[in-house]
Amino acid sequence: MAKILVTGGAGYIGSHTCVELLNAGHEVIVLDNLCNSSSESLSRVEKLTQKSLTFVEGDIRDSQLLDQVFQQNSIDAVIHFAGLKAVGESQQIPLAYFDNNIAGSISLVQAMQRAQVFKLVFSSSATVYGENNPSPYQEDMPLNMPNNNYGYTKLVVEQMLEKAAIADERWSIALLRYFNPVGAHKSGQIGEDPQGIPNNLMPFVTQVAVGLREKLSIFGHDYDTADGTCERDFIHVVDLAKAHVLAIQNRLNHQGCRAWNIGTGQPISVLTLKDTFEKVNQIQIPFEFAARRAGDLASFYADNARAVKELGWTPEYGLEDMLADSWKWQKQNPKGYGS
Ligand code: NAD
Ligand code: UD1
Repeated sequence: MAKILVTGGAGYIGSHTCVELLNAGHEVIVLDNLCNSSSESLSRVEKLTQKSLTFVEGDIRDSQLLDQVFQQNSIDAVIHFAGLKAVGESQQIPLAYFDNNIAGSISLVQAMQRAQVFKLVFSSSATVYGENNPSPYQEDMPLNMPNNNYGYTKLVVEQMLEKAAIADERWSIALLRYFNPVGAHKSGQIGEDPQGIPNNLMPFVTQVAVGLREKLSIFGHDYDTADGTCERDFIHVVDLAKAHVLAIQNRLNHQGCRAWNIGTGQPISVLTLKDTFEKVNQIQIPFEFAARRAGDLASFYADNARAVKELGWTPEYGLEDMLADSWKWQKQNPKGYGS
């Protein structure tokens, strides 16, 4: 069993991953500045698992703090979630995104090097495939410049990590390219808790369902897809979290830098997601069709064969689980961790 530093561990995907790491018997140290999360998520992780973790409140750009964390704990590997993730905001304040996501990752990796810790799992995104690749996306397709600054930071960090691993063979790095994470822990105790008006589809739908928002706007219904709405590869956050545990196990035994798609491989349309949410949860979602959102692609989904073969990962949950679990979390926590 290993001692894992989890940056951004109080966030949506990080908190679910902490549960799976603790359940698998690993020790967990979370470093998070709480800029987009609450430490309440970590208290709930501890209650759910009946295990304790160490929480350090701080920033990945604080090199002194990082050195202290590495000196005080014999860390075997790092899972790096910390970063900013709002696509629209990244267009308005690009430098904040470059600082947090790119400079923050450099700061972390340099501290790892000083501490001689060379095992890293990085949260990347399907956005690195850019606009010109056909789905299903495969890991060895040429990457393209994403059409937004958030995506650009993911591409830059991926490439930086690949080059670092080429220069020093002690590195062992997993690039996990997430598709569209949704859902919540089965208990309804931890889930996604966006600040303000949600940018992403799933939290918007659950906030309409709970009465916080009047109606869903479906952005575009004239795409070249079966029902005219965009198609995405939604992946249950618990399946995604489990992929991190497997990636850690893989990295503890391998060198180099390797990318894996983490998606189900099933394209689901926005309209299908809404209709299935209504059916599964017996609740109506008022909606309207609205104009296309700038930058959206009609359809993208994963070829996940590499993760299945090399990590031994198989997604367990289907769309109905994702929608039931998202709703359970929202219903039990109408104001997220603030309720
Ligand atoms: P989140 O915002 O819930 O979690 C990120 C966490 O990082 C938060 O707890 C935040 O407080 C913390 N953080 C941010 N900057 C920090 C810093 N400088 N120092 C320390 N902590 C910091 O987001 P999430 O959905 O859990 O995403 C986790 C990672 O996965 C991010 O890197 C994100 O870009 C990536 N990702 C997310 C999605 C998605 O749809 N949720 C898709 C692809 C990739
Ligand atoms: C976006 C980002 C991706 C990022 C992810 C999580 C792009 C191209 N991709 O993915 O890089 O990792 O968010 O932050 O920006 N939709 C509606 N109404 C809504 C909200 C969304 O119809 O109120 C539609 C969108 O048009 C899209 C689909 O739902 O077709 C999914 O949107 P979203 O949840 O924002 O994820 P992506 O855009 O796929």
